[in-house]
Amino acid sequence: MGVERTQVAIIGAGPAGLLLGRLLSRAGIDAVILEARSREYVEARIRAGVLEQGTVDVLHAAGVADRLDREGLRHGGIYLSFDGARHHIPMEELTGGRSVTVYGQTEVVKDLIAARLAEEKPLRFDAPVARIEDFDGDGPARLHYRHDEAEHELHADVIAGCDGFHGVSRETVAAQVRIWERTYPFAWLGILVDGAPATDELIYARHPAGFSLYSMRSPTVSRLYLQVAPDESMENWSEDRIWSELHARQDGDGFTVNEGPITEASVTPMRSFVAAPMRHGNLFLAGDAAHIVPPTGAKGLNLAAADVTVLAQALAARFREGDDGPLETYSDRCLARVWRAQHFSWWMTTMLHRDPAEDAYGAELALSQLRYVVSSRAQATALAENYVGLPLERTVAAEVARG
Ligand code: FAD
Ligand code: DHB
Repeated sequence: MGVERTQVAIIGAGPAGLLLGRLLSRAGIDAVILEARSREYVEARIRAGVLEQGTVDVLHAAGVADRLDREGLRHGGIYLSFDGARHHIPMEELTGGRSVTVYGQTEVVKDLIAARLAEEKPLRFDAPVARIEDFDGDGPARLHYRHDEAEHELHADVIAGCDGFHGVSRETVAAQVRIWERTYPFAWLGILVDGAPATDELIYARHPAGFSLYSMRSPTVSRLYLQVAPDESMENWSEDRIWSELHARQDGDGFTVNEGPITEASVTPMRSFVAAPMRHGNLFLAGDAAHIVPPTGAKGLNLAAADVTVLAQALAARFREGDDGPLETYSDRCLARVWRAQHFSWWMTTMLHRDPAEDAYGAELALSQLRYVVSSRAQATALAENYVGLPLERTVAAEVARG
């Protein structure tokens, strides 16, 4: 194959890359999406499940929300469980009507892939990008990738690095980025269960044995998480042990976890990570390629969607109006939102988990914070407005105010 040319080369077909591709095609901008893994692998990867209102709005604007509208579960609140009792946080009431929607990341990814293939726009699976060159000059950037047992070259005006935490994009600019990072002394063991959730809203629970979360995917599929050791192996966790831990950490106050066949189980490490700036010449990092949050605040997927929404608008300004202004502020505008989500995710994580090295004083601080959240409207509102997602303009406005 000769050298191919496009306006935007998108590396990675996770939520960030696929949504960006969709927003660009709607704006009449050409893009090629290259994904290292197979379609089956990408569509089966169980990850996040909570969509902020803003993410749902963008999926609507992108014309890929039909199934989301039919199957997504709208949630106006969450429960916080501790001290043997459950407390409801009425997020919708506290935020003037904003809510979240429970709809699996796998489903978002499937919908976006189906839409891209229906449009007959380029999306190549099993196409790992090995190298990126000339992204910092006036000419086109060059990407080298392997596909169908041959080496290929793609030239693009802009590269969108949507290739996740272990991708090639951030690695390429490793010498030019500053990193802020924190790891946590625990991980999440997540299970997918064939069985109705016993709760109408998600339950985030702090317990002396550790954190647990009761979530769901549909009226007949539950998703539950347990805090485990950071290096935990699934081999140490029989189904019996998983259920007995979940009962110990969630049951009480007239409530019992509903058991069912476990169809998937895996351990996810917890990390906070920011790499900045998110722009390097014509290479733009978006989503997990630039930042990671621990999952407690349900922000990872939503941040990825916010980044590419800002990027798609900025690329439309360049390609349709010749205006580079929005691309110049891309990094700062995204980072304002990223740091708010970093703080919120860290705060939820430390408040709800049991740090194995924590002294009794630290545990009491966390409990005091939880009691304050469920008894103060101001504190509950602070949690609620972060959880449902601050409107894009508010985080951008904060950045503008900074000068
Ligand atoms: P990704 O989804 O990681 O997509 C990046 C894509 O790029 C991948 O498909 C990858 O194969 C591809 N790629 C990588 N390198 C290359 C290359 N060289 N060439 C071509 N393609 C490449 N968030 C939550 O809010 N709640 C959760 O419960 C939750 N659980 C998670 C569990 C796990 C195991 C992980 C890893 C993340 C989890 N997250 C969770 C975070 C959330 O899933 C991510 O924030 C979200 O997937 C980010 O989307 P993304 O498109 O930026 O990156
Ligand atoms: C889910 C994941 C999260 O990280 C979270 O905070 C809430 C729900 C989920 O997978 O359902």
